[in-house]
Amino acid sequence: MKRMLSGIKPTGQLTLGNYIGAIKQFISYQEEYEMFIFIADLHALTLPIDAKELRKNTRDLISVYLACGLDPDKVVLFKQSDVHEHAELGYIMACNSYMGELSRMTQYKDKTSKISDHGSIPTGIFIYPALMAADILLYDANYIPVGIDQKQHVELTRDLAIRFNNHYSETFIVPEPITPKTGAKVASLSNPEKKMSKSESEKGTIYLLEDLNITRKKIMSSVTDCDNEIKYDTEHKPGISNLLTILSSLTGKSIESLVENYQNVGYGTFKKDVADAVCKELGELQAKVLEIQSSNKIEEILEEGAKKASYYARKKLSKVYRKVGLN
Ligand code: TYM
Repeated sequence: MKRMLSGIKPTGQLTLGNYIGAIKQFISYQEEYEMFIFIADLHALTLPIDAKELRKNTRDLISVYLACGLDPDKVVLFKQSDVHEHAELGYIMACNSYMGELSRMTQYKDKTSKISDHGSIPTGIFIYPALMAADILLYDANYIPVGIDQKQHVELTRDLAIRFNNHYSETFIVPEPITPKTGAKVASLSNPEKKMSKSESEKGTIYLLEDLNITRKKIMSSVTDCDNEIKYDTEHKPGISNLLTILSSLTGKSIESLVENYQNVGYGTFKKDVADAVCKELGELQAKVLEIQSSNKIEEILEEGAKKASYYARKKLSKVYRKVGLN
């Protein structure tokens, strides 16, 4: 069975972008692959975050994983910081990566462009992709389901794996990124040229655990164009195309069939249908999250997951230590 691995950072609140671009993929693949899904809490430290908030986000993330249907009997579900090999291999990957390639990462450039004093850019955000490479390479993962924004990091991971294998002999599987056909880049509702993200505008971002009245308002007031034609055209109609993407991903109907159904229908009716679909899905999710959070199962699941993950991580790290001369 081929192996698949992915993770989400517990920074900020989870968004509909995380759900459509990543979590829905995880669920759809869990029967077919040997899966490792984790909470990238070490990655959450790369930009300043309050300890209390980090704990809350971590708990919310594991609850969402479970509420969405990730089955701990089929998937190894764990917290990155519970498996110390991630940080150790992350250091070795940082030693094997170049300043040039790390500084070319789009996410690094985006995130640091928002920091006014460049002298105070945290080093962690710079070496972030080295830790991400470690996450992937520790488990011999073949496929990495992610949204488009993370594809470049997986490509760098491939380069680092190949470089290490060439230098020290075959050690790592070279992974491949997998992005969903629909929804690899869900856009902001208030600025559809940009990605929907945890750190962008509140108005443009749907949070999975927010009040659904607010969700509905955000969708109904989302930015579109004025020609009142429902058509998929990301260049000229990014707002409508984004809503079509969201509706297609949640209903499983193709974009073509949705476009056909919504001929001669006004934007108001279309937006209402999108809001209904999103609120229905999130309503069910939120009810399950509440149930899980009051069940006391979370600690046990994470403990069990960390044990299983450590078994693989320990073996791989000890192989790496042998190759580089550390034992
Ligand atoms: P993170 O936490 O920023 O995002 C988690 C996942 O959600 C996807 N995503 C989106 N997909 C579509 N549209 C959007 N608007 C959108 N916003 C986010 C991301 O592409 C990602 O798949 N570095 C990673 C976490 C990580 C990881 C890993 C992932 C750490 N180690 C190893 C895979 C393998 C991150 O920050 O994702």
